[in-house]
Amino acid sequence: MGYELKMRVWRGDQSGGDLGDYTVEVSEGEVVLDALHRLQATQAGDLAVRWNCKAGKCGSCSAEINGRPRLLCMTRLSDFEPTETITVTPMRSFPVIRDLVTDVSYNYEKARELPGVELGPRDPDGKRRMMQVDVERGQEFRKCIECFLCQNTCHVVRDHEDNKPAFAGPRFFLRYAELDMHPLDTRDRRSAARETAGLGMCNITKCCTEVCPEGIRITDNAIIPMKERIVDRKYDPLVWLGAKIGLR
Ligand code: SF4
Ligand code: F3S
Ligand code: FES
Repeated sequence: MGYELKMRVWRGDQSGGDLGDYTVEVSEGEVVLDALHRLQATQAGDLAVRWNCKAGKCGSCSAEINGRPRLLCMTRLSDFEPTETITVTPMRSFPVIRDLVTDVSYNYEKARELPGVELGPRDPDGKRRMMQVDVERGQEFRKCIECFLCQNTCHVVRDHEDNKPAFAGPRFFLRYAELDMHPLDTRDRRSAARETAGLGMCNITKCCTEVCPEGIRITDNAIIPMKERIVDRKYDPLVWLGAKIGLR
């Protein structure tokens, strides 16, 4: 069954913009991205919206729906009353390119700062072995689709643009934890996590976890264990003494 959906969509670019009012013909079972595509096809041919898979897997269609960070392709119209007006705005923490499309290069810069994997020596027969249990430990983190909704939501940068240079954000704390749990990796990322990525600026509000479309428990399973490891290094007197006399 079809109905007329009232939408407010942010239109504009770096120089400014405003919400535009539209009425779009939609059908039951559709998602917000379907409504935007129909809007593009019938009334606003120049509306900019980024998308790719329409299956919640590419992480391209991130935006804010009624102020809440969500994937446009995974938000069903049936989540709202048919009479409700749906407001779609671009992610607030990143600069707008046009309409709903933002420049997410902040995230790629943070990815580049992260120390990569450093494998230890091979076994005497030339192979590398890892236990299945160790492989599985980081499995949850590999579900990340890089939608950057968590990055957009974290108040450390959402409300304080000037924190960006010193703060890598939840998606990359997740990556730190993933690499730290890699069974063959030998690199110690604890000081990088503290000094380069600004892990200490996270005060565990868990807003990142709440918006993750993959249901990754970013705070409990990645951030808190990484924080514990850093504290171990900083406050363990033996580790401290070892560092002082150059053992580590
Ligand atoms: Fe998106 Fe979740 Fe990955 Fe953050 S951790 S980028 S919210 S999938
Ligand atoms: Fe931000 Fe998540 Fe920490 S929202 S403050 S990174 S728990
Ligand atoms: Fe790929 Fe929405 S279009 S996640």
